[in-house]
Amino acid sequence: MAKPFLLLALSIVVFALLFSEAYSEQETRSTYIVHVSPAHAPPQSSSSPALLRLSASSGLWPLSHFASSAVVAVLDTGIWPSRPSFSDADSALPPPPSSWRGSCVSAASFNASAACNNKLVGARFFYKGYEAAMGRPIDESRESKSPLDTEGHGTHTASTAAGAAVKGAGFYGYARGVAQGVATAARVAAYKICWASGCFDSDILAAMDAAIADGADVISLSVGANGYAPPFHRDSIAIGAFGAARRGVVVSCSAGNSGPGAYTAVNVAPWILTVGASTIDREFPADAALGDGSAYGGVSLYAGEPLNATLLPLVYAGDCGSRLCIPGALDADKVAGKIVLCDRGLNARVEKGSAVKIAGGAAMILANTEENGEELIADSHLIPATMVGQIAGDKIRNYINSTASPTATIVFRGTVIGPSPPAPKVASFSSRGPNYRAHEILKPDVIAPGVNILAAWTGASSPTDLDIDPRRVEFNIISGTSMACPHVSGIAALLHTAHPEWSPAAVKSAIMTTAYNLDNSGETIRDLATGEESTPFVRGAGHVDPNSALDPGLLYDAQVDDYIAFLCSIGYTADQIAVFTRDGSTANCSTTTLPSPGDLNYPAFSVLFSSHSDVVTYRRVVRNVGSSADAVYEVAVSAPRGVNVTVSPSRLEFNSVGQSLSYEVTFASAANPVIVGDNYAFGSILWADGSHNVRSPVAVTWPSSLVSSS
Ligand SMILES: *[C@@H]1O[C@H](CO)[C@@H](O)[C@H](O)[C@H]1NC(C)=O
Ligand SMILES: *[C@@H]1O[C@H](CO)[C@@H](O)[C@H](O)[C@H]1NC(C)=O
Ligand SMILES: *[C@@H]1O[C@H](CO)[C@@H](O)[C@H](O)[C@H]1NC(C)=O
Ligand SMILES: *[C@@H]1O[C@H](CO)[C@@H](O)[C@H](O)[C@H]1NC(C)=O
Ligand SMILES: *[C@@H]1O[C@H](CO)[C@@H](O)[C@H](O)[C@H]1NC(C)=O
Repeated sequence: MAKPFLLLALSIVVFALLFSEAYSEQETRSTYIVHVSPAHAPPQSSSSPALLRLSASSGLWPLSHFASSAVVAVLDTGIWPSRPSFSDADSALPPPPSSWRGSCVSAASFNASAACNNKLVGARFFYKGYEAAMGRPIDESRESKSPLDTEGHGTHTASTAAGAAVKGAGFYGYARGVAQGVATAARVAAYKICWASGCFDSDILAAMDAAIADGADVISLSVGANGYAPPFHRDSIAIGAFGAARRGVVVSCSAGNSGPGAYTAVNVAPWILTVGASTIDREFPADAALGDGSAYGGVSLYAGEPLNATLLPLVYAGDCGSRLCIPGALDADKVAGKIVLCDRGLNARVEKGSAVKIAGGAAMILANTEENGEELIADSHLIPATMVGQIAGDKIRNYINSTASPTATIVFRGTVIGPSPPAPKVASFSSRGPNYRAHEILKPDVIAPGVNILAAWTGASSPTDLDIDPRRVEFNIISGTSMACPHVSGIAALLHTAHPEWSPAAVKSAIMTTAYNLDNSGETIRDLATGEESTPFVRGAGHVDPNSALDPGLLYDAQVDDYIAFLCSIGYTADQIAVFTRDGSTANCSTTTLPSPGDLNYPAFSVLFSSHSDVVTYRRVVRNVGSSADAVYEVAVSAPRGVNVTVSPSRLEFNSVGQSLSYEVTFASAANPVIVGDNYAFGSILWADGSHNVRSPVAVTWPSSLVSSS
């Protein structure tokens, strides 16, 4: 059934922000995100569980038995099985559920009977598309033709989604505590789809189909297309996820690391859970202290001998041959023994420190330029180094320029957990909406922890994945939407276990309508790209809140037929729809009943006005899944600027559990003929019954032709 374009099609990238910034800062930023999962957090432990508010004593964790009967399929760079995150020793896990039909496959460098156990229940590898695309067999001197993860990303994402609790985890001295996957007792099945030269569509689709056939409950994909989202019928992840939805398997994907531009989110099909990345309340501060007494806050995961309080001479790399600190381009005479201020951009951040080290420099201050603003990423540098934002960078550059003998030192402050600065914030790299392929489907869906996430790592590569870095670590701290996605995959596994009767759309609805939108200081979650409040095109429905998702009150459900009607509504032909259904059936769009893609029963609203006086009406159906048969919900609307919103009826009176009721929302543009400033506005629709708040974000867009710059 596979069309030729499914084979050898575009290379897909992993979404972690680790390495070469060449991708991230020039084309798209593909990040694999790795995330060490939070644990029942002792105060000093990794804090992402704390932000997720998961507790061993109440809520979703105990009520789902930590998802021990669920299998999470992680399609990624493979698995490093000997990490304690994948051990079944302590947890006395029983054999996997009888519905599990997957297996572990042995290969030259992978002994399945030694690697797999009741925790790691599957390990397979998919390479035929890769070999066909490369035109040669895999070079086994360069990479392992097996499920083995020699890169690190897959081990990180798998342990984030479903790693066992590991005490005393950390990265050198940083983030010490219990590391634990979100679905702590869920089983892991690793499907290696990404190779040294990329992840290929046909391997991705084959692995998705295999995971579904094997009996996985959730598929976690921290992978996506490079560039704008491809059309759904040419997007292997969208096609595979459609098949998953049909069989009740939740597919959770990263949105990509191509932010902060608009339309950068990928994996935007409505049947996919699309996850952006946010910060957590854990920082790794390292201050740049200057000879004039000023100090600028930065971040670092440098783990070697710290600098002492003695001030060292400070130079700007731009005055020493290479503003960007390209290896080999720095003048050793000018940097020897000094702290070098390097500009961010182009080459990998850790490589810049290495370039300073090779040229004889003592330390590095890495400063953002306008391109990255105030977004800070803590890196495990090979020399004493910290990263500062653009504002601090400009001040330090000025200080160097205006001082006869500029000096500085770096003060490393270890791991700091607390309310300042406020968290979560949306990372600037996190890809944003609107949805490039279907404006009426709001994307991303949610945000989840994706910055400075601690999780397990491969033993085959360094924590920076740079050859110049000889270190090997059990755990690593990295950032990206790749790290955010497996958090939500873990939450989906917990919810699927607690509510086995819920469809993938229902799981997604519960996660979205219960997400929160205020940070820990009570303000709307901010966007690190602007410093301002984030919008639903940036944070989707908000930050995931798993315990609330357990009891959402109402669900916006959808089935495969609804998705077929959606494809009809965006003009897909029967042949194009057959790419998704893959069962020989022919869709007849004249018999489907979705007037507009915005009528899909989605837990969010994105309205595209065609004029300043346009009126758009969408219909929704909600199912009562609370414990109260006669629940009564009242609507509360926060209307976007320039829009009159009418909800009818404004009161939903149920008389049984499981009952569905429908409502209509009319969005009437009341904007002036000429719109000044932004052609977007935002609001929300909230249904509340006194014990549940069921919230949907609203985004409206006017044609840019109506916008005046004055
Ligand atoms: C694979 O691992 C099993 C279990 O540890 C061991 O008995 C067996 O000898 C190993 N096989 C090979 C080929 O190393
Ligand atoms: C601080 O470090 C410098 C450079 O490494 C060294 O020369 C100096 O002795 C150190 N001072 C103290 C007080 O340790
Ligand atoms: C330093 O000052 C000179 C002259 O004002 C200016 O041209 C140069 O761009 C400055 N360099 C930095 C790094 O600010
Ligand atoms: C699609 O449905 C319409 C209305 O029922 C019918 O007239 C038409 O023949 C169908 N087309 C196909 C290709 O089945
Ligand atoms: C919007 O509501 C206001 C106040 O009720 C009303 O005056 C106005 O006519 C409405 N505009 C549209 C386009 O519905």
